[in-house]
Amino acid sequence: MSRRLSRRTLLTGAGAASFATLAAGAAATVARKGAMPASERKPLLFPDGFRWGTATSAYQVEGASDVDGRGPSIWDVFAAEPGRIRDGSTGHTSVDHYHRYREDVALMKALGAGTYRFSIAWPRIFPDGTGIANPKGLDFYDRLVDALLAARIEPFATLYHWDLPQPLQARGGWETRDTAEAFGAYAAEIMRRLGDRVRQVFTINEMQTFVEQGYQTGNFAPGLKLSRGRLNQVRHHAVLAHGLAVQAVRANGRNETRVGPAENIATALPAIETEENIRAAETATRELNAPYLTVMMEGRYTDGYLAREGADAPRFTDQDLRIISSKVDMVGLNVYTPAQYVLASEAAPGYVEVPLQASHPHMASTWLTLGPEALYWAPRHAARLWGNKEIYITENGASADDVPAPDGSIYDLDRVMYLRNCLMHLRRATAEKVPVRGYFLWSLLDNFEWADGYATRFGLVHVDYATLKRTPKLSASFYREVIARNGLA
Ligand code: FCB
Repeated sequence: MSRRLSRRTLLTGAGAASFATLAAGAAATVARKGAMPASERKPLLFPDGFRWGTATSAYQVEGASDVDGRGPSIWDVFAAEPGRIRDGSTGHTSVDHYHRYREDVALMKALGAGTYRFSIAWPRIFPDGTGIANPKGLDFYDRLVDALLAARIEPFATLYHWDLPQPLQARGGWETRDTAEAFGAYAAEIMRRLGDRVRQVFTINEMQTFVEQGYQTGNFAPGLKLSRGRLNQVRHHAVLAHGLAVQAVRANGRNETRVGPAENIATALPAIETEENIRAAETATRELNAPYLTVMMEGRYTDGYLAREGADAPRFTDQDLRIISSKVDMVGLNVYTPAQYVLASEAAPGYVEVPLQASHPHMASTWLTLGPEALYWAPRHAARLWGNKEIYITENGASADDVPAPDGSIYDLDRVMYLRNCLMHLRRATAEKVPVRGYFLWSLLDNFEWADGYATRFGLVHVDYATLKRTPKLSASFYREVIARNGLA
């Protein structure tokens, strides 16, 4: 079959039809031989009430970067610097979600999604970072939230997805404690204005990424390469800001409002699933997340982290640790790829990393190493290490080439393959009662993929960047089926 049907034939409508005929023929042959009647296929279902949605972030989709009083963010400044973004682009217009949000809500509705995770642009609310809130900025999120609720889609708002107001950066940014305090005040303002309708709040998206990429490698805004001591202080201010925001949401939201982080937990996987290796993977995961999730969940920096950093360790007080570990209601985990594979070791720290072969497969983005088992291990580790009782996968998805076929459709089978495998492993977790309550697929739309610009696509919906026309891909049909069945067929 594969030899007779070229890739091109498969991609055309006619090819698809003949493929379906061939597949039906093959199924009939199997049924005749009695090998496995179709009725024995067991769907892989998720628990009742499992929440399905998509995710985006403000700077990546909104565009409209200079309208209605929005101030500049560090990403506007960074992207405007030559050589920072692979294709020389910026988020100035992006996919213009700011003006097309109604169409985008309709796309979510067509998927059957019941939730949507978006982020609020701090510079729209406080163009100067602090001070008087900008009513027009707040109005936009009012309109968006109302449109979502009218479509029976529950809003999950992320307060910070990396777009720090530039005036705060000019005053020291995350290197200063003032930025963490300002974040708390901003969180309070959001809850005062939207808290009657937004009951699910994530504080900060992927501290690990924005801190390491923005302040260590310099690949992301604000493009700094700090010394270890200064870097550790940035990390500390980020977790402190999370804790202050948790407290602000509690003080200004409703009683039933749920709040937590959305962190890209660095996940260690057992290279071979033995009890020893699983324990080693848990130990490694706790250590890999020491300055982020671990301190948020445990209220202390691990001995290993403090010893490794020595004189460069962050300066902090006991009171800071109490704020950082303010009780959360839910934990969001962004999971794309394993951080490392490990084997147990008798020598400290109890595990060794197994290096990847150069031949290890990855998706279109080279960082997106294939390891769908991470969707099982990440929530399982979190539940076992920290007793988390309400876990969301706040991001998972894949980049693909997404070249339109001659019939105009985008047959992103590689993304479908990736998603199906990730969901199978996530389903393994829910079947074992790991308390995962929902899943947000990154992303609804193709969008500005940070330093990759528009060259890397992650959407279920293709965007033609010249016309901003939206076209759902094959993966959108796949996800619609998943949502409709609450699992994999
Ligand atoms: C995550 C980010 C998100 C997007 C995806 C592909 O690290 O949170 O904004 O860039 O990766």
